[in-house]
Amino acid sequence: MSDDRAIEISAEQVRRALAGDAPRPEVTCFFNEPTFTATYVIADPSTGRAAIIDSVLDFDQPSGRTSTESADEIIAFVELKGLTIDWLLETHAHADHLSAAPYLQEKLGGKIAIGRDISAVQEVFGRVFNEGTQFPRDGSQFDHLFGDGDSFSVGDVAAIALHVPGHTPADVAYVIGDSAFVGDTMFMPDYGTARADFPGGDAHQLYRSIRRLMKLPDETRVFLCHDYKALPNRTHFAWETTIGAQRTGNVHVHEGVTEDAFVAMRTARDATLDMPHLILPSVQVNMRAGHLPEPEENGTRYLKLPLDLL
Ligand SMILES: [Fe+2]
Repeated sequence: MSDDRAIEISAEQVRRALAGDAPRPEVTCFFNEPTFTATYVIADPSTGRAAIIDSVLDFDQPSGRTSTESADEIIAFVELKGLTIDWLLETHAHADHLSAAPYLQEKLGGKIAIGRDISAVQEVFGRVFNEGTQFPRDGSQFDHLFGDGDSFSVGDVAAIALHVPGHTPADVAYVIGDSAFVGDTMFMPDYGTARADFPGGDAHQLYRSIRRLMKLPDETRVFLCHDYKALPNRTHFAWETTIGAQRTGNVHVHEGVTEDAFVAMRTARDATLDMPHLILPSVQVNMRAGHLPEPEENGTRYLKLPLDLL
């Protein structure tokens, strides 16, 4: 018996869906170009039950203005298709966009869920933002916390959550039917992998998480959280690939790349990257499950900007 039952069960679930012995989800991507984020609506065609993964609340940093234009497109699609939303899933506490999960929940329902280790992220960033005791660090802002190997479903489609730390300590991949939503672990094969230098990130862990995902069948559909094009060779955005394509062709982590080589590459590359443009607003909001800070006595909400800290 292998020591990784969660991957074995996930692989079996994918094989059954690919063979037509279990339902496959219908996946629709909404790509948010300002933040390069792929939001997915995942629907069980037979029951009309659905999940939304990694939604975006539009945010204009210079003016401090938020907007629900992108989220409203998703709501219009869900209503057009007559879907019932059961889950609002986050792969992790994003550092590059604000989540629209609370707004979608208000309009469509569904449980907001993330990985159980979000508490580690809340601990670190609770300190960064000098949050008081009114900010719980136990993940209780979310409706559901997934542990590694936890099963759930989207209508009749079987699903499983896999803990895939490295980019952050709390990253989760969701394997739904024949499809894996891998968050910020791998990007398109020609682009490589996610950075691992945020507080709590770890390139060794990221490598092991990716190798674990690569144990899924080659035909597993893989959906990414972001795409930045791999210029100059690719001029269009792409967000869907397969485990086989990643295993054989991912420029950072294809089969044969050792953990030490990956960590050396990742660490050198991360040292050249600037902090994401929206990290401070994003994490401040996303660690609260996407809820904006409470308004002050004048009715206005404020975000904090720690100086000389990150
Ligand atoms: Fe991320």
